[in-house]
Amino acid sequence: MPKLQPKVVVRAASGDDASVCGRICYEAFAKISSAHGFPCDLPGPDAATGLLAMMFSNSDFYCVVAEAEGRIAGSNCLDERSAIAGIGPITVDSGAQNLGVGRTLMQAVMDRASGRRAAGMRLVQAAYHNRSLSLYLSLGFDVREPLSCVQGRTLERTVPGCGVRAAQPADLEACDALARRVHGFDRGTELAQAVEQNTAVVVERGGRVTGYASALAFFGHSTAETNPDLQALIASAESFGGPGLLVPSRNNALLRWCVANGLRVVSQ
Ligand SMILES: CC(C)(COP(=O)(O)OP(=O)(O)OC[C@H]1O[C@@H](n2cnc3c(N)ncnc32)[C@H](O)[C@@H]1OP(=O)(O)O)[C@@H](O)C(=O)NCCC(=O)NCCS
Repeated sequence: MPKLQPKVVVRAASGDDASVCGRICYEAFAKISSAHGFPCDLPGPDAATGLLAMMFSNSDFYCVVAEAEGRIAGSNCLDERSAIAGIGPITVDSGAQNLGVGRTLMQAVMDRASGRRAAGMRLVQAAYHNRSLSLYLSLGFDVREPLSCVQGRTLERTVPGCGVRAAQPADLEACDALARRVHGFDRGTELAQAVEQNTAVVVERGGRVTGYASALAFFGHSTAETNPDLQALIASAESFGGPGLLVPSRNNALLRWCVANGLRVVSQ
């Protein structure tokens, strides 16, 4: 017999929803990752609640919760800080999955991004999660890039000719110009916030900025002119915040350098 589809109502998330949604978020991720023998991306329910509390109360993010039969069944967020909107984390209560709640939560943030004429939308999903991949494909997402999550500390700690230092507000213009050259758009708001939070670094080569990272962490982003610039950024970290750093797997030279330098591949 097919499962009965509950009536799902989507509404804006508020700070008060963070603890219920944080528990759902942690449990949903912990369940799917442990089912596949992987560590959870989040260390515990408090970390999930903290992350969602920050996003739910920040006007840079459009956040929604889904209610089914009067109870919160899941949540989703849209990072609106750049031309390409970032989706996630999306999670649905383990007991309410596969009933269409996730699709409704995805549609809500996609409608929002389309309504605001975002140039595009991006998300990252764990390769072992066949259901999320299927859901996103059916919603129109294209697979763009396989990513390897790597963790550890590189054996080589520097790259000849490249100097890495903390990013300053005066670097923003050069970093944004670099991002526009490499990607066609910049993530200037995110980077400016990262500079304020002292997580951003730049790499200089030949007297100019040739790469930057908003944070050498799972929730950061990096842009560089060449692989050595990116390697210098990676080599400067003692470890990467969160589960690890996401490296494009098809950049074989870079990923091979990571592995040869002792970094461990955590997941795909
Ligand atoms: C991913 C997640 C949010 C999806 O929510 P959900 O409510 O279970 O998803 P839905 O029921 O709306 O949609 C699942 C779709 O995938 C389809 N599907 C499931 N398994 C499939 C498979 N192996 N192959 C093809 N399609 C599949 C379902 O049929 C459904 O499609 P339909 O709407 O056309 O019937 C939820 O599973 C979750 O919270 N997972 C744990 C956390 C997580 O991984 N989040 C995503 C991070 S990127």
